Amino acid sequence: KPQHVILQGAPLDCGKNRRGCIMGPDAYRTAGLVEALESLGHTVTDIGNIGPAPYTEVIHPKLHRLSETIAWTQSLADATEAAFARGMPITLGGDHALAAGTVLGAMRHAAAVDRPLFVLWLDAHSDFHTLESTDSGNLHGTPMGYLTGRSDFPGWPDLPASLPYENIAMIGLRSVDPAERAALQQTAITRVDMRQIDESGIATPLGAFLERIEAVNGMLHVSLDVDFLDPAAAPAVGTTVPGGATVREGHLVMEMINDSELLTSMDLVELNPFMDERGRTTRLMVDLAASALGRNVFDRPTRAF
Ligand code: ARG
Ligand code: MN
Ligand code: MN
Ligand code: MN
Repeated sequence: KPQHVILQGAPLDCGKNRRGCIMGPDAYRTAGLVEALESLGHTVTDIGNIGPAPYTEVIHPKLHRLSETIAWTQSLADATEAAFARGMPITLGGDHALAAGTVLGAMRHAAAVDRPLFVLWLDAHSDFHTLESTDSGNLHGTPMGYLTGRSDFPGWPDLPASLPYENIAMIGLRSVDPAERAALQQTAITRVDMRQIDESGIATPLGAFLERIEAVNGMLHVSLDVDFLDPAAAPAVGTTVPGGATVREGHLVMEMINDSELLTSMDLVELNPFMDERGRTTRLMVDLAASALGRNVFDRPTRAF
């Protein structure tokens, strides 16, 4: 059904050391994201790029650009919450540290309208570190640790409540650090690794998750990390991991999301246009977003889940 989409650029590049995600929002615009969504019957407002809240970087011995990441979390939470008043926020990253802000904004909105929020995390990685457990010090590896309240994130915005583990599905996992693995196995987070996708297909676990959301009139935030996809199809990302989702698996996920009519917000993250090959990763991400917003070959007579 037609949506009013609010595109917000988040050229956040502080969640890791390798630079380039700063160019992500303009790459999506160049690849025609606005036109693709409009061609599907949606109206689109591109509010341009957001910046971090004012901050002064305090150098931390381990954590890379902590102050800047906190400042982005503040501004993105506010912007995303405000965008919900007008339509469906789609955030153009920027690296995955931005999800701390966008999901926080969605959590605030969900609390205000008294609906449960669910998060679908499409990623090779779980990004479930705490500030203590991260070895790399790269904060794009921590947003799920923050949002679920699994430990203290001093100086970061308070959560209205922790995001419940039961409301999270991570699909595409194939690079999980030992500390994340040990912690994840203690939670009720739905964890779908590539082995399970090989064995059962991706539609079965995704369909089960969508059914659970529909049953309680939940909101669905989708956070799509480029490295969910196999690097052969999507090379423009700093953290490639072989053995990822195929182009068709990516589209199936997005088409099922569209069929479910549950999507309320989305992030497109970790695109590094500096590493792309003639725009092909960027174009694939635009095509996947279009699938999530209704592009198909034929309407389906019955829902796909
Ligand atoms: N687990 C690794 C780390 O913490 C990699 C995280 C990759 N995250 C991402 N959003 N690409 O450094
Ligand atoms: Mn990620
Ligand atoms: Mn909830
Ligand atoms: Mn990743």
